[in-house]
Amino acid sequence: MKSESSAPGKIILFGEHFVIYGTKAILCAINRRITVRAETVPREMITIKSKLGTISHNPETKLADIDAPLRPIFHIASKLIKRHTHKGGMLITISSDIPHGVGLGSSSACCVAGASAILGLFKKHDREEILKLAIEAEKTIHRNSSGADCTVCLYGGVMEYSKNVGFAEINPAPEFTIVLANSDMKHSTGDVVDGVKGFREKNKARFEVMCKAEDHLVNDAILHIKNKDMIGLGVCVKKNQSMLKEIGVSNERLEEMIKIADSTSYGSKITGAGDGGCIFALNDDTNMQDTLYTLEKNGIECFSVGIDFKGLDTI
Ligand code: MEV
Repeated sequence: MKSESSAPGKIILFGEHFVIYGTKAILCAINRRITVRAETVPREMITIKSKLGTISHNPETKLADIDAPLRPIFHIASKLIKRHTHKGGMLITISSDIPHGVGLGSSSACCVAGASAILGLFKKHDREEILKLAIEAEKTIHRNSSGADCTVCLYGGVMEYSKNVGFAEINPAPEFTIVLANSDMKHSTGDVVDGVKGFREKNKARFEVMCKAEDHLVNDAILHIKNKDMIGLGVCVKKNQSMLKEIGVSNERLEEMIKIADSTSYGSKITGAGDGGCIFALNDDTNMQDTLYTLEKNGIECFSVGIDFKGLDTI
């Protein structure tokens, strides 16, 4: 038996970190994908092959003994082998064109494609079940996940997301172009999220005010998207970045990149957990080439991405 699925990466346009505490966020799936292929094998071992390495363990192995980046996929395989009393093991192969560990959703896209491919070995696909399994798997490496990343990787498009209310597609989709710039500094989402938790504990009242401000910012941003007001949207991007700086997830390298990207784009900010990873710059056809050129001239790896409207694809 064989089954294959792919899912897109993502960027967070507004609201990372605050979304964990119940505020709204805006996310966008990007046209870079991860593909997971699963097949049953007679030997009682789960083998996972990817660019990050190969692991092979008995399905009974404790999660704590599995290397972090591949732990979510092992979790899904082991859980479903047990649930379906499958006699044998699994070979799982992951291929990806999403850079790993830089905030572009490689881990959530892998959880979504992995949950779909592995479930597909046993039964017909059900999107809600895939999402539940993917978020549960993501929590084996980032226990406070808001579920936002897996949701946009599964459904694709541009969406407003809130942990308590769910998601709503933003329609019609924005007409901006996104330039991503990579700081080349890998980060652990779980560690950065723990850092913000520390900030919140020390600054309870201020954090509450910031959560309310983030909700307003997301509402304003949605209006600007609907009105095709790139200047207004850029102002929102810059405001969001200053909030991310205040909660401690920016650093010198990211601030330097943002300053450069701000000189040609409508606005730029961290996307994802921060403290490394990528920034995005908001552009349209009038300034995208300038932004790419300026970042490249300053020795910063950058590329433009489009919106992925398909989400999960079961091949
Ligand atoms: C990471 O891409 C986004 C965070 O808000 C974490 C989460 O929502 O689970 C930092």
